[in-house]
Amino acid sequence: MTYRVTLIPGDGIGPEITAATCRILEATGVKFEWETVQAGITYMEQSGDKEPLPDAVLDSIRKNGLALKGPIGTPIGTGFRSVNVALRQGLDLYACVRPCKTYPGIMSRYSDVNLVIIRENTEDLYAGIEFDKGSEAMVDLEALVAKHLPNKKLPKDAAVSLKPISEAGSRRIVEFAFKYAIDNKRRKVTAIHKANIMKFSDGLFLRVAREVAQQYPQVQFEEMIVDAACMNLVIRPESFDVMVLGNLYGDIVSDLCAGLVGGLGVAPGANIGTHATVFEATHGTAPMIAGRGIANPMAMLLSGRLMLKHIGERDAARRLEDAIRLVLREGIGLTPDLNPSGGGSTEGFADAVIEALRTRVPV
Ligand code: NAI
Repeated sequence: MTYRVTLIPGDGIGPEITAATCRILEATGVKFEWETVQAGITYMEQSGDKEPLPDAVLDSIRKNGLALKGPIGTPIGTGFRSVNVALRQGLDLYACVRPCKTYPGIMSRYSDVNLVIIRENTEDLYAGIEFDKGSEAMVDLEALVAKHLPNKKLPKDAAVSLKPISEAGSRRIVEFAFKYAIDNKRRKVTAIHKANIMKFSDGLFLRVAREVAQQYPQVQFEEMIVDAACMNLVIRPESFDVMVLGNLYGDIVSDLCAGLVGGLGVAPGANIGTHATVFEATHGTAPMIAGRGIANPMAMLLSGRLMLKHIGERDAARRLEDAIRLVLREGIGLTPDLNPSGGGSTEGFADAVIEALRTRVPV
């Protein structure tokens, strides 16, 4: 069987790490046909298109149901909306799954982290419902606040971003987290919130999480305020198992957890919807090291491993992880983020993993 996968190389280090990842995934013996499509800032510059996410990309992913995506840049504080957010919303990729696991050979402060972040991907402050300072819409919003919340006042020079959290959106992400826990033999789900302050939005999320938890008595349920969760993650990360969070908390806590296991270069992810799944690393385009051949492909590769598991190629996924473990343990070809003085490269790491797959990891 040949799997047809949409391949989006992306910006910055994206093309380097996706090329290395495709090469390694092919070396597992699983057959892939890559349908390469372009999106992002580099695509806009090269094609002259004013749209960073052409319809062809969404069509290709809808058709194939699977995509491997490199990072795509989003300039900060401009009118340019994130392609990543548009992709997740456009394809309703509502669940972002980010496993964070310590691997021997990777320098980190902890040795026994093995947790999974389940981040809601479509709602929250990422909904893009924003009111600019001084806009006509802002004047209307001020009037609305004055009418319904007479004790509250919006500062005249404020800009506002809305945080919609729906009952249906909360239910499907928490249900996803519990099903994920059961399918992956995990013991506990922790719902992260700030319902003490945001009584309605986070309060709704927490109420739904408690309701859903009752349907899964075989999985332990825990709830934690997001700030306390951050402290506990740093003090005893091994006490966490599956964490379910809204979009913004999920984004921030994902990077924190990547830091627990060795950095962004080793943190994979999958954006899962009902009809399509997009696999991508947690990290961004790393512009400072783009084009230098030293980006760590491991996060992208581990995302590829999640894809192997997702399509049922569990044996190939296991062999790939074994090969990565071997290379990490021996420290061959590790990129500078993992071994600053080792002189390793993206391609060198890929070669080492392929060699381990071909000669040292039993079929
Ligand atoms: P970043 O993740 O690109 O970089 C943060 C730090 O981690 C930098 O020091 C970078 O060199 C390092 N790093 C990241 N990935 C690495 C890798 N594979 N190997 C070695 N070192 C690595 O985050 P930053 O700088 O905040 O964002 C840069 C751009 O990426 C922005 O335009 C942002 O919008 C975009 N971005 C895209 C994402 C996506 O496509 N899913 C996710 C996060 C950011």
